[in-house]
Amino acid sequence: MKTINNYSLKNKNVLIRVDLNVPVIDGVVTDQSRIASIKSTINKVIQGNNKIFLLSHFGRPKGKYNKKYSLEFICDVLKTKLKVNKIYFINSLEAKDIQKIQKNMKHNDICLFENIRFYNEEEKNDLNFSKNLSKCFDVFINEAFSASHRKHSSIVGITKFLPSIAGDNLIDEIKNLNFFLDTSAEIKTAVIGGSKISTKIELIDNLIKYFDNISIAGAMANTFLLAKGYRIGNSIVERNHIDTANNILSKAKKHNCNVFLPVDVVCANNINDKVNINHCDIANVLSDQMILDIGDKTTKNIINVLVNSNMVLWNGPLGAFEHKPFDHGTIEVLNVIKNNNIFSDILTLAGGGDTISAIKMANAERSFSYISNAGGAFLEWLEGKESPGVKALRENNLF
Ligand code: 3PG
Repeated sequence: MKTINNYSLKNKNVLIRVDLNVPVIDGVVTDQSRIASIKSTINKVIQGNNKIFLLSHFGRPKGKYNKKYSLEFICDVLKTKLKVNKIYFINSLEAKDIQKIQKNMKHNDICLFENIRFYNEEEKNDLNFSKNLSKCFDVFINEAFSASHRKHSSIVGITKFLPSIAGDNLIDEIKNLNFFLDTSAEIKTAVIGGSKISTKIELIDNLIKYFDNISIAGAMANTFLLAKGYRIGNSIVERNHIDTANNILSKAKKHNCNVFLPVDVVCANNINDKVNINHCDIANVLSDQMILDIGDKTTKNIINVLVNSNMVLWNGPLGAFEHKPFDHGTIEVLNVIKNNNIFSDILTLAGGGDTISAIKMANAERSFSYISNAGGAFLEWLEGKESPGVKALRENNLF
């Protein structure tokens, strides 16, 4: 695979696929890590006196223009964060419009395309669309590992028409995720939370083969608890996945992987209920309440497994962490990772949007060995699936 470090890039028109699908609240980008992660590649391309056009998606506008998903708002943030002179914004894919900007662009300027998902050809990986897009460029760089699990025009199709190379962050993500999967660390533990077992079946299925322990929490644990015969009241559950949960439990046994489920929980009548909060053992969940966090005994159990591990992988919060006080379990475990010196000797990997938000809430970013910027792409890589975007780079021979 050619990369930004083994391919000479000078005086070229360069198209860079980035992932500017960042969290935004009231127009403010609440986490800039995806922007920070493309900086190294952008700087290297600028140094070679190249003209840069950035291409990204934002949200899921389903193939048509929707103001809500316009990327125009992000220009100012990009300008500041990437320390460039000027950001052009273009809402056309017409060659004549692109060339006009290319002519005007000066050193240290960048141009950002409007959300590529406003075109329905994008998600269809339409090759004509990719071909047209490629016309004004000499080289394509994929710097969007977090979107590379999508077989889309701006990720896969485009590589059929341009010499295509990997950006620094994409390489970094692959190296780090593979390092964690391949490490010979003696005791490996995964902490898997979040709300749906259905989105993580393949992940857990794959991890069972390599990991010694898997701690399951968050609403997805409810399906396992129900499968084991516990009454879980009004808790979120995927009844159609009770068999899945049972299969995972028996497969784990076969592979000698210990699965830890909550032994106690924090319940309330609903997610906004701050009055009827009930800490109870898992056998005592009231029929009109829902499980919203792990309890103290479960928190201690998780910590105990983690401190006795050599490698820890974390994906998904342990409770409804956006709603206080149901952030308690998640933050407590993160605080231990942050404050207990023992973790300086334990390899720790985390990924996924909610996981990153929780880690930021606890100010625990520096306590992890590696935090992936990716969500779905992170999960799919750990599931052992081939990333279409990375495969396309490997197969590209247009140099
Ligand atoms: C993400 O946020 O995980 C990526 O930007 C991919 O977004 P998508 O799931 O809408 O393809």
